[in-house]
Amino acid sequence: MNKDASGKLAARNEARSHRPTSSAFIKYIGSSWAADKTPLPKKHKVAAFAAKRRAAVAKAFPGHLIVIAAGESKPRSNDAEYRYRPHSAFAHLTDWGSGTVAGSVLVIDARGKSPKSTLYFRETAGKDTDEFFANSAIGEFWVGSRPGLKEVKALLDINTKSIRDFEKDLAAVDKKKILDLEKSEALVEFVSELRLIKDSYEIEEMKKAVAASIKGFENVVKSLKKATKHPRGERVVEAAFFAAARTDGNDLGYETIAASGEHACTLHWIINDGPVKPGDLILIDAGVEVDSLYTADVTRTLPVNGKFSKIQKEVYLAVLEAADAVFAMAKPGVTYAEMHRTAMKVIAEKTKKWGFYKGSVEESLQLENQWHRRWMIHGTGHHLGLDVHDCAQARREMYHDAVLKEGMIFTIEPGLYFHKNDLLVPKEFRGIGVRIEDDVLVTKNGVLNLTGKLPRKPKDIEAWMKKVRG
Ligand code: GLY
Ligand code: MN
Ligand code: MN
Repeated sequence: MNKDASGKLAARNEARSHRPTSSAFIKYIGSSWAADKTPLPKKHKVAAFAAKRRAAVAKAFPGHLIVIAAGESKPRSNDAEYRYRPHSAFAHLTDWGSGTVAGSVLVIDARGKSPKSTLYFRETAGKDTDEFFANSAIGEFWVGSRPGLKEVKALLDINTKSIRDFEKDLAAVDKKKILDLEKSEALVEFVSELRLIKDSYEIEEMKKAVAASIKGFENVVKSLKKATKHPRGERVVEAAFFAAARTDGNDLGYETIAASGEHACTLHWIINDGPVKPGDLILIDAGVEVDSLYTADVTRTLPVNGKFSKIQKEVYLAVLEAADAVFAMAKPGVTYAEMHRTAMKVIAEKTKKWGFYKGSVEESLQLENQWHRRWMIHGTGHHLGLDVHDCAQARREMYHDAVLKEGMIFTIEPGLYFHKNDLLVPKEFRGIGVRIEDDVLVTKNGVLNLTGKLPRKPKDIEAWMKKVRG
């Protein structure tokens, strides 16, 4: 490729710049700015929780210097970036949440008697550098100001240092003692398992995420009429949930699934470009992520016109029965795997009752058969928290084969999906997909349905839709 007069290709984005570069201008723009007199923030109530989590990491890896990077922001295309979101392990161990400065690194030094933590980040740049006006990626005039080292120390009660010191400080440490999250499987596994049981702060945040998500679902119901009049009605529904999340100052924990009609049979349908037709069902799987980065994960399957047809209700009630069977047995001491088997028994029974496979229910439930799974290929639930699929790097014996413990939060989300071309089911079932997904907290004797305020029974859904629509 030829290099032309406008210089290296990587720097070509600057080719459109009209920014003055004379030293007189740089001196002028750097002068006459009042000093920031904002008082230091108060210590966040989460600081003590995060310190406890860091102490647990230090205890697990004594003699090591543990490095946990928040990650850089990710390019979407050219110089446009995705909205920044730090790594969940970093979020858990600092609880800096949505305010995290991209590229930050947490270091937990467990080499001495009492562990010490340091948070390295790119602090605010002074007006004596040209960053604030000349750097469109991180400059204050372009993307907003960053906090200073003292501010973050006051907020999170953690020692802070400039990211400029990080490489130098790390170079002074014996390499064999460094444990980096990006390289150590043992560390990845540990910090994932550390999130299996939620503390009281996390439970509070999850309740906030759920409450905000319920508002999102109400806005979805309000949007349905408009959605039916648009060729891409699913996008209208997706936007309604997002609008509610943003209006409350929040974000989403994952891309919203707005799946109307046969699209509901595509488990993670996020293209959302289909129509929303009266008479069809619409499956909405969506969750609000709050400032602390905890997210809900909720699914409701609703009749677009506000009333379930006979066949829709029959499928819906089968899924509800599977969910309720799990609700009835989930409590400390039962295993995750047992919950799945409980839901599967109902799914196997229902699909047998409808005559969709030849053998018996018992045969279908045998590991080598699993005929009923044709219509529910996904799991019955997953841990939920900072990540929608939380604790995903936990060992199988700590997750799938582990017993439930008080403080765990997970989803219960059975479903049934009959594809439009499925020759094993009668025509009237084809194109119907139903999932009901709730978020639950394990208590002393059972589970608390955090999303229980959103109606689940057909008649409650119909009454709620009528009320919300007005
Ligand atoms: N929203 C993805 C899931 O339910 O697992
Ligand atoms: Mn889920
Ligand atoms: Mn979901």
